[in-house]
Amino acid sequence: MKRRAFLRYAALLALGGAGVVRAESAYHRLKNPAAPTLLEKKHVPGLEVPSRVRSGEWFEVRVRVGYLVPHPSTPGHWITWIELRGDGKLLARMEFPRGGVADPIAVFRIRLEKTTTLEAVENCNLHGTWISEPVRVEVV
Ligand SMILES: [Fe+2]
Repeated sequence: MKRRAFLRYAALLALGGAGVVRAESAYHRLKNPAAPTLLEKKHVPGLEVPSRVRSGEWFEVRVRVGYLVPHPSTPGHWITWIELRGDGKLLARMEFPRGGVADPIAVFRIRLEKTTTLEAVENCNLHGTWISEPVRVEVV
């Protein structure tokens, strides 16, 4: 690897994931929606989003962790960040640097120009990184 390429790669890693989308296999996801485990209930992010929006108009996307059972927020166990992705690309990110003070809910106000598949990704300091089920938003 050439030195310049290596330095660029190292710089991307140092960003801690900002702007860098990890491989799909690095995420935990809901395996069987008919019989979710307690860990899945507490960690899989849930998306509240309109199924259809107008092109270029702002709308809200609400992300809640977890989708069936609220995730704890204590000084030793909490959600450290929540991201919103569109067609696999990072759109927005909310950080929770301190445990025990913030409910793991993020509201993003976004606009789209074309039909997009949204996903939410969150990180628990003890249980890893989790991704939501994809949600398609039709843009008219
Ligand atoms: Fe957790």
